[in-house]
Amino acid sequence: MEAPVTEPARILHGKPYAEAIRAEVAVDVERLKAERGVTPGLAVVLVGEDPASAIYVRSKGEQTLAAGMHSETHRLPAETTQADLEALVGRLNAATNIHGILVQLPLPTHLDSARVIACIDPDKDVDGLTVTSAGRLATGGEGLVPCTPLGCMILLRDALGDLTGKAALVLGRSNLMGKPMAQLLLAADCTVTIAHSRSRDLPSLCREADILVAAVGRPEMVRADWIKPGAVVIDVGINRIPSKDPAKAAEGKTRVVGDVAFAEAAEIAGAITPVPGGVGLLTVACLLKNTLTAAERITGPIAGRA
Ligand code: GUN
Repeated sequence: MEAPVTEPARILHGKPYAEAIRAEVAVDVERLKAERGVTPGLAVVLVGEDPASAIYVRSKGEQTLAAGMHSETHRLPAETTQADLEALVGRLNAATNIHGILVQLPLPTHLDSARVIACIDPDKDVDGLTVTSAGRLATGGEGLVPCTPLGCMILLRDALGDLTGKAALVLGRSNLMGKPMAQLLLAADCTVTIAHSRSRDLPSLCREADILVAAVGRPEMVRADWIKPGAVVIDVGINRIPSKDPAKAAEGKTRVVGDVAFAEAAEIAGAITPVPGGVGLLTVACLLKNTLTAAERITGPIAGRA
């Protein structure tokens, strides 16, 4: 008997999706300017000198400008006080040229990020992190949704079309990713399971899933035999591990891998996102989309938008 032929997985590269979202946002920004005389504005707040955060924040500023929006980056020293940071957020809440506010995380440890986030006006909460945004998402209200889960949904809808009735498993339960992801899948009529590091028999749970979203921050934890043949696998992990080459590893060189063992998983999955180059590329594009949405909600939608 011939061995069954398994199709190689479709690789869901993030770049074309991110470019399409950015192009669409740029067109709508021009329309908002023409129709309403309003330029959407995004303020990003960075406290301290974390090098990875500094790179992300610079990229956010550049992409905001490239979309035709107003961009402000507030770089504060690491020793900034809670009161000063909250006062800045208060000023940005009141600023009429700012429609979206993002406080880059993690904050230095002496600052209470939950209290800072609670100060953000929910209508400008383009990260979707406030309790109000989480509540709106959970109850089907019109809120702003965290950017990476939004990017995952764009990929999933492209790969699968209608998601109704699909068994979806979200691995990870963070406020920024796992919980909002589960809510979005539920709103799309999936049957949703949230699994995490304390779940029993993760491989069996994962093998039930038509849609597997991995967001646990454990390098290559999800193996090929955890995946249901033909499933769509979205890998949200960004983990730095030592280089494969022992000489380079000894020099401290690293490489980035996801939460899924990509090469072996691609032999089983129907579609899969790579790391790097997958869903991560959609995050900033979705931030721009959220900023445009926030501006339209504040100033009124562009013509033809419900
Ligand atoms: N740090 C890493 N990712 C994010 C994000 O999506 N939002 C914020 N505010 N900080 C982050």
